[in-house]
Amino acid sequence: MSDYLIAPSILSADFARLGADVEAVLAAGADVVHFDVMDNHYVPNLTMGPMFCKALRDYGITAPIDVHLMVQPVDRIIGDFIDAGADIITFHPEASAHIDRSLQLIKSGGCKAGLVFNPATPLHHLDYVMDRIDQILIMSVNPGFGGQSFIPTALDKLRQARQRIAASGRDIRLEIDGGVKVDNIRAIAEAGADMFVAGSAIFNAPDYATRIAEMRAELAL
Ligand code: DX5
Ligand code: ZN
Repeated sequence: MSDYLIAPSILSADFARLGADVEAVLAAGADVVHFDVMDNHYVPNLTMGPMFCKALRDYGITAPIDVHLMVQPVDRIIGDFIDAGADIITFHPEASAHIDRSLQLIKSGGCKAGLVFNPATPLHHLDYVMDRIDQILIMSVNPGFGGQSFIPTALDKLRQARQRIAASGRDIRLEIDGGVKVDNIRAIAEAGADMFVAGSAIFNAPDYATRIAEMRAELAL
């Protein structure tokens, strides 16, 4: 595993044959499974719950599962995802009534925890929790759908988040999610990201391995 992590968003996978498709994208060189949970309340779409996560584990998927919660309220679903085999759980601060409590719930279950920032959400929610988080996820689209265009202001937010991580002295992953493609991944890495969610760019490609290799080649430049 390189220091850059490629995390395909399985929102764009074939849900009718999810296990096989996730297996294929991992065999093609992906590092992490990005698992988008949408509740038709916090975001205007409905996707997968903890049963899908457990089903992937039962199918034999052993790669880290990065659960991106786009749900409100947050807390009551956290335990179910811990039990279902999640490794990382991130949530949107606006969706949690008690951010610190939600982080504690995730950590007490043995998972890595992170906060997610929508394009217009300021980073100040990090102010008192940097010692508790393992990951920061910067959204470069408004959450709810795959296949949207990258919002360029995310680059400046990545730089700010990277500065905060450096100041903390902690080992915190900086993840980007939304509109990540071969032609912008290098600029995104230069802005500070080290974990790249890509849904449509990978799952709509004719060959997953070729597409992931193209992304890694950009990162190696
Ligand atoms: C959007 C999701 C993303 C999405 C990314 O709310 O969080 O993970 O699936 O899809 P692409 O890479 O197609 O923009
Ligand atoms: Zn996501």
